[in-house]
Amino acid sequence: MTSILTRVANLPDRSVRYLEAGSGRALVLLHAFPLSADQWLPQLARPRAGWRVIAPDLRGFRGAGPAFEQVDLERVRIDDYADDVLTLMTHLEIDRAVVGGLSMGGYVAFAMLRRAPERIAGLVLANTRATADSEQGRAGRDRLIALARAEGPAAIAREMVPKLLGTTTACERPDLVDAVSALVTMNSTETLVAGLTAMKHRPDSTPLLSWIAVPVTVIAGEDDVIIPVAESEAMHAAIPGSRFVVVPRAGHLSNLEDPSAFASGLPEPL
Ligand code: MLT
Repeated sequence: MTSILTRVANLPDRSVRYLEAGSGRALVLLHAFPLSADQWLPQLARPRAGWRVIAPDLRGFRGAGPAFEQVDLERVRIDDYADDVLTLMTHLEIDRAVVGGLSMGGYVAFAMLRRAPERIAGLVLANTRATADSEQGRAGRDRLIALARAEGPAAIAREMVPKLLGTTTACERPDLVDAVSALVTMNSTETLVAGLTAMKHRPDSTPLLSWIAVPVTVIAGEDDVIIPVAESEAMHAAIPGSRFVVVPRAGHLSNLEDPSAFASGLPEPL
């Protein structure tokens, strides 16, 4: 196993915690809501040869301590998360990277593609969708925002963890259920409300799909109830030349539920 470094980048307007492992070409991994960079620990522990894997916390997530208290969570949008990641890449002198995003991380990857296509060398779009929220989806966000404000992060964990993990994982891996719940509750109410608001307001990225000219892998979880396999397959069909990988017996958090199967969707060893 490779050692995983925990680092803090002091950017002009904020500090960002990120995890790093391996060396070579850059692979930037972006986490789902409501988790943090720690979601990528299995992939960081076994980076593919030739790849430098970097996993940042998106703005405010897992934030703790004085260096992080100043983050601006008012009116944060998915584009702000994308700009934060692009600024971190600049700070790390990374011009281009393969960007992998799972769910909300995928929404951020699409925003990076929209804002700075020249910096994207490839995409891994895992358990994510290009479409914006439906009216029903936005109403669901409002309900969760109210729940977070009323009862805090533990209520978000109680509500979301059963949907994040597949039924097989939930039955066979109580340790993972606990670990994911712990990651959720490390986030503040303000961070969770900001993330829900950002996702609610994200634009439709569907028009981008047919124009994507870099290698793309779309990954789905066989048991994902948030983004069903058929929806991921339709997104794959809309992206010219993309690969499609289904992780068997995994739900929405496919990278945590079966890291070995997930690895077949990551860029090849160099
Ligand atoms: C995520 O996993 O990032 C969220 O479930 C995505 C969403 O709610 O749209």
